[in-house]
Amino acid sequence: MKKTEKILVTGGAGYIGSHTVIELIEQGYTPVILDNFSNAHPSVIPLMEAIAGEPILMVQGDCNDSELLRNLFSEHDFSGVIHFAAFKAVGESVANPLKYYQNNLFSLIQLLRVMEEFKVTKLVFSSSCTVYGTPVGATKVDEQTQLGVPNSPYGWTKLMCEQILRDAVIANPKLQVIFLRYFNPIGAHPSGKIGEFPQGVPNNILPYMTQTASGILPQLTVYGNDYPTPDGTCIRDYIHVCDLADAHICALDYLSVPRELAVFNIGTGTGVSVLELIAAFEQATGKPLNWKFGPRRVGDVVKIYADAQSAAEKMNWKATRTVNDAVRDAWKWEQNRLANENRN
Ligand SMILES: NC(=O)c1ccc[n+]([C@@H]2O[C@H](COP(=O)([O-])OP(=O)(O)OC[C@H]3O[C@@H](n4cnc5c(N)ncnc54)[C@H](O)[C@@H]3O)[C@@H](O)[C@H]2O)c1
Repeated sequence: MKKTEKILVTGGAGYIGSHTVIELIEQGYTPVILDNFSNAHPSVIPLMEAIAGEPILMVQGDCNDSELLRNLFSEHDFSGVIHFAAFKAVGESVANPLKYYQNNLFSLIQLLRVMEEFKVTKLVFSSSCTVYGTPVGATKVDEQTQLGVPNSPYGWTKLMCEQILRDAVIANPKLQVIFLRYFNPIGAHPSGKIGEFPQGVPNNILPYMTQTASGILPQLTVYGNDYPTPDGTCIRDYIHVCDLADAHICALDYLSVPRELAVFNIGTGTGVSVLELIAAFEQATGKPLNWKFGPRRVGDVVKIYADAQSAAEKMNWKATRTVNDAVRDAWKWEQNRLANENRN
């Protein structure tokens, strides 16, 4: 794939999408964002442009709108698609599963139909380690680890989308698909201009920490202190969002020659406990975080982290940033964001 080529980035105004768009531009690609702003704010676009130093092509619209997709594919000669657009809140998906099945499955199906119509064959799909469910035995999972039972309708949408794509590739072998199974993305762009900004109370731990440290939320609750781990708290593989963005560039490079469907874990390969993450955060911010232990949460996986050897060997991708980098960048983003809010 030549680097001047146009890439459609659905959900490109969101957390991971925005960082990936910056990386695409830095690598010489021309990204075109399609986002309906259901979980992003239009103000992110000028901030992205400030980092990129150039205007960004952006279309406001819904991936479920096949007419809009057709117009977009007619207007631009896309060489590939990165499909981020989806709903992702685990708790909300339990309360409102149909909303999740409708958006996450139908948007992929519409996209695949239009890609086929316009003979666009390369697709990088945002999957998740949630497809492993609660791994039996091993906690370091590679891509051969048996897929599990996801713990939420959101998780099921990822597993179902993977199956839809597997079937689509069987029916149309020209389709070249990569699943990137993300572990736990955290952090922000080192400029502090963009980062994770959840609507309402955050579902993810690091935005919860930054909002607690800045006084927006009163206290962080750590769910469970008696798990069979060294400090009793759950262990995850936290990956810097900029490393995750890099993985998408490697995935596009990997698709520069014809490939069979490929699956890659995108994580650091190291497990970090919740208490270790808090310690890293306190060190980065230089002040103690107000937190307490609460009871275990139903459905929480005790310990899971990635074997990301395959991504290193086959697409030459490796995480290079640390958890300390991620918490430092997230804190910088939180402070910038609040300063901008106060100015406006
Ligand atoms: N953040 C994580 O922890 C995580 C982990 C594993 C996988 N993922 C997956 O990665 C992808 C990106 O996640 P994120 O954290 O950046 O989420 P996000 O909510 O910040 O970004 C998703 C973007 O898609 C947009 N969107 C949603 N439905 C749309 C539709 N029908 N049409 C157009 N735009 C639509 C939203 O407005 C948002 O900007 C998602 O598919 C998510 O499931 C995320």
